[in-house]
This record gives sequence, C-alpha cells and structure tokens, in this order.
Amino acid sequence: AWSAATGEREVLLAGPRSFCAGVERAIETVERALERFGAPVYVRRQIVHNRHVVSDLERRGAVFVEEVDAVPEGSLLVLAAHGVAPAVRAQAAERQLRVVDATCPLVAKVHQEVRRYADHDDTVVLIGHADHEEVVGTTGEAPGHVLVVAGPAEAETIQVPDPTRVAYAMQTTLAVEEASETAAVLRRRFPALKGPRTDDICYATSNRQAGVRAIARQSDLVIVLGSQNSSNSRRLAEVAEAAGAPAVLIDDATELELARLAGATRIGITAGASAPPTLVDELVRCLSGLGPVMVTEAGELTEDIRFALPKEVSQA
Ligand code: F3S
Repeated sequence: AWSAATGEREVLLAGPRSFCAGVERAIETVERALERFGAPVYVRRQIVHNRHVVSDLERRGAVFVEEVDAVPEGSLLVLAAHGVAPAVRAQAAERQLRVVDATCPLVAKVHQEVRRYADHDDTVVLIGHADHEEVVGTTGEAPGHVLVVAGPAEAETIQVPDPTRVAYAMQTTLAVEEASETAAVLRRRFPALKGPRTDDICYATSNRQAGVRAIARQSDLVIVLGSQNSSNSRRLAEVAEAAGAPAVLIDDATELELARLAGATRIGITAGASAPPTLVDELVRCLSGLGPVMVTEAGELTEDIRFALPKEVSQA
C-alpha cells in the first residue's frame, strides 16, 4: 500500500468548510465560561458533534454529562449547540443550575416555528433523523404535535389527524436535495401545508454541500473530516458520493487508511461544520509527507455570519 500510496498528487480544498458560526459561538461560550467562572463548567451532551473539540475542552476543565441529573446542584451548565427540549430546561431550573444556552440561533428559530404551529393546533411534520439530538430537542417543543419523517418514502405514507392542519419544519443539517424532495411529497399530499419561507437547512450546511459537490466531480477520492455522529459531516460524504467520488469520513489524518489513496491522484478535502480547521492543515501535511502535492483552494471561503455570544459570557 505504501508504494501505491506515494507519488504526485493534487489536493482540492472545498470551500467553505469546517466551523460554522453556530459551532464557533458554542465553543467560545464554553471557553469564556471557563475563563469567567472557572472549572468545572458542565456541558450537557457534546457541545458540538466532534471528538477533538470535546476532548480539547475537557482538558481545559469542561465536564460533559449525558443528563442534567448528573450535574451537582447550583453549578454552571452549558446547553449544547443542537438545542434541548423545554423539559431539559425545567430540570435544570429544578436543580437550580445556572444555565448558559449555546443553542445555535438557527436551531432556536426552528424551535420557535414548531411552537407557533403547535399553538395553532397544526400537526408539525419534522423532516429529520429521529434519533439525532437536534430532532429530539425540536420535537420536545410540542410533544404530541410533532411527527418525524426521515425522507420521501416516509412522507408518502405518514398519517396526520387533520390533513388541512399540517405544517412542516426541518433539521438544520440535512442533505439539501433529499429534504426538498421530502417537502415536495408533503406539499403534494397536503395542499394546505404550511412551511418556513426558506427551508430550515442552515446556510453552513447548504454552502458546505455545494462546496464538496463542486470538488467531487474532479476528485478520485474525497476525504471528509468530521466525527461519525456529526450529521452535517455524514451528509458531506454522501453528497460527494452522489456526485461520483468515493468518499471517506474520518476524525483526523491518523484514521486515513493509506490503501484508500492507491490510484487517487486528485484528492478532494472538506470538513464538517463541527470539525476544527487545524485538522485540514494536518491532513494536508500528512499527504505532503507521502510525496509532492499541489494544493488548490477550490471554493469560496467567504461566510461572514457571526452570532453574538450568550449574555452571561459576553463582555460587559
Ligand atoms: Fe447552526 Fe448550522 Fe452550524 S444550524 S450550529 S450554523 S451547522
């Protein structure tokens, strides 16, 4: 594998890639909380779905817990970027925790939509993956009013109590094309369907998918940096494959199997919205160690969206 894996290569870097504004805000929230209030800072679930981000913050004094009942009463708790059901906030209040909410504002917006529909007695069809933390949180806004569908096939068969009172919402990190197919099925089946003015898939998800699609067409292999439980990272690998390039999703360069590089002279690289940019640099460095590489920035990198930090940790 070594000899087949060496040789001259071209590396195409997809743009945009790596951290989105919601992830940067969530990580900075934990960092500022550590600075301002000192360790330990408790965080419910992974702050963002990335192994490197989590272990880095752990080293600096963050303590990750599954549920609120694992947090000592009166402590500081940060809620992760994916958002939580109101029931979780209630548990935190019961334990008298000081809560800092790092929910991405674009996820919070979907929560608001779901609440508004449910208040009008609409059934909300939530397009997404039922076991994903974001979907669990969004569903929790209106238990009993939300039905989750994963894709077009489920949308074809779903039954609602009143077909004239149906709305839809989406998980923010879906594959853009499949999600709009799913919404089209719902629209056909329920002509009175209400929905968001623009789809709930966030700018970062759709930009990264467009970026990887553009390089996939010219790549023999696409490497996506991200963790296995990161929805948007997995979608990037799928989008690359749908565009015709074999794709691998790895946490970092150490996970790359050199056999995968055999015969691949053009390698596309991208990173999920929760994956630190340094992982890309490391991977490129690792590839350069195998032989000469020519690196090309393929896409647009300009995303100027920033979100204000939660008030508890922003500068006075
Ligand atoms: Fe928010 Fe989208 Fe990132 S929902 S956390 S900006 S992937």
